[in-house]
Amino acid sequence: MFSKWVSIGFLYLLLVLLSFGELCNGGITSNYVRRNDLSADMPLDSDVFRVPPGYNAPQQVHITQGDHEGRGVIISWITPDEPGSNTVVYWAENSTLKNHTDGIVLTYKYFSYTSGFIHHCTIKNLEFDTKYYYEVGIGSSTRQFWFTTPPKVGPDVPYTFGLIGDLGQTFDSNRTVTHYELNPTKGQALLYVGDLSYADAYPFHDNTRWDTWGRFIERNAAYQPWIWTAGNHEIDFVPEIGEPKPFKPYTHRFFVPYRASESTSPLWYSIKRASAYIIVMSSYSAFGKYSPQYKWFTKELPKVNRTETPWLIVLVHAPLYSSYVHHYMEGETMRVMYEPWFVEYKVDVVFAGHVHAYERSERVSNIAYNIVNGLCTPIYDPSAPVYITIGDGGNQEGLVTEMTQPQPRYSAYREASFGHGIFDIMNRTHAYFSWHRNQDGFSVEADNLWLHNRYWKYSKEPSVAALR
Ligand SMILES: [Fe+2]
Repeated sequence: MFSKWVSIGFLYLLLVLLSFGELCNGGITSNYVRRNDLSADMPLDSDVFRVPPGYNAPQQVHITQGDHEGRGVIISWITPDEPGSNTVVYWAENSTLKNHTDGIVLTYKYFSYTSGFIHHCTIKNLEFDTKYYYEVGIGSSTRQFWFTTPPKVGPDVPYTFGLIGDLGQTFDSNRTVTHYELNPTKGQALLYVGDLSYADAYPFHDNTRWDTWGRFIERNAAYQPWIWTAGNHEIDFVPEIGEPKPFKPYTHRFFVPYRASESTSPLWYSIKRASAYIIVMSSYSAFGKYSPQYKWFTKELPKVNRTETPWLIVLVHAPLYSSYVHHYMEGETMRVMYEPWFVEYKVDVVFAGHVHAYERSERVSNIAYNIVNGLCTPIYDPSAPVYITIGDGGNQEGLVTEMTQPQPRYSAYREASFGHGIFDIMNRTHAYFSWHRNQDGFSVEADNLWLHNRYWKYSKEPSVAALR
């Protein structure tokens, strides 16, 4: 009898120890303490929203990559009063030769709102690694900006990307952009992971908040390309007010070079930039088998030449791995469809937004499962990407602080703070990622990770893909 109770006691102790072990096996949940009040949108008379002086002066100037290789730039701006000029004048820093390219102008209506005159002009065949000045507008209302083209695509070309998601236009949003601008590691192009203006939070999706957002980001987006991903706040689908066309304001305002990667939609496309190959996906477009996005994506991955662009990066709005309660498992259907492709083609890192917090995963995959074998747990996989959620730009919906407990093993670090990221590529084998929360000094890294390229520098351990 005594031995029976000893056995039961031992079993109980073992269970306690096992459950304690489970708790300890998760990653780090930061205990950083921050103020938790919601940040309001900046008022309309804020200096960041100021309309540039002069009649019909171009405003909301922003640029993005304009071709597949990095020798093209799309320059976009809005003139409020009349169409004005479609022409961009541009010249290389060390040249007096001025070039002209004409773009297009369009407008759109949304409920009772009518847009200004939205100009898009694609400049192509620029020299690599060159600073260019450009000028838009006419008469006394011209405005001048500059950008630097990336180096020629190549395997060991260093390049630094910034990362921002779910920015909005609050005081916290402004802090995020300021911190990104002042980070001593200077981002050369920004990877934006969706949810831009949050204009849809206003009655009838008041599109004047798209205009304020355009003026807010101009101070950075006119000087370096922002690589766009669409989020749920870009859908603007409100048939009950006569707006049944999804993504209408977004696709009118933000052009991307989707045709250059043989995509049929601006919502999914790819670019090469320096040593990176960046694939942008749409969480809110059909992505099931036989859908246009699926067909494009599955043809796209085999095209990536890792001896030319070693770093394979995917941008998508809804995270495939997230251990926060809010938006829990919203990316699950996409994970089931696409994770085997990510692993097979050794994607280095997947950046997502949507969840208003920060989280970094271990390299795991969860692709061994089929309908009968029960193998449905994320496990370490050297061929798997790191998943980073960086939807912490600072929008008016605030942070999400509620996390699933205990922290799952796949979650390496999680913290509900606003901030931005830097992805700093050194060469074909090494890149350094850092996450910077807004409460710290500009150079402080709240989290960081050396990434070893999956094609060039990963251990030769077999992927669990082999188990399938
Ligand atoms: Fe979102």
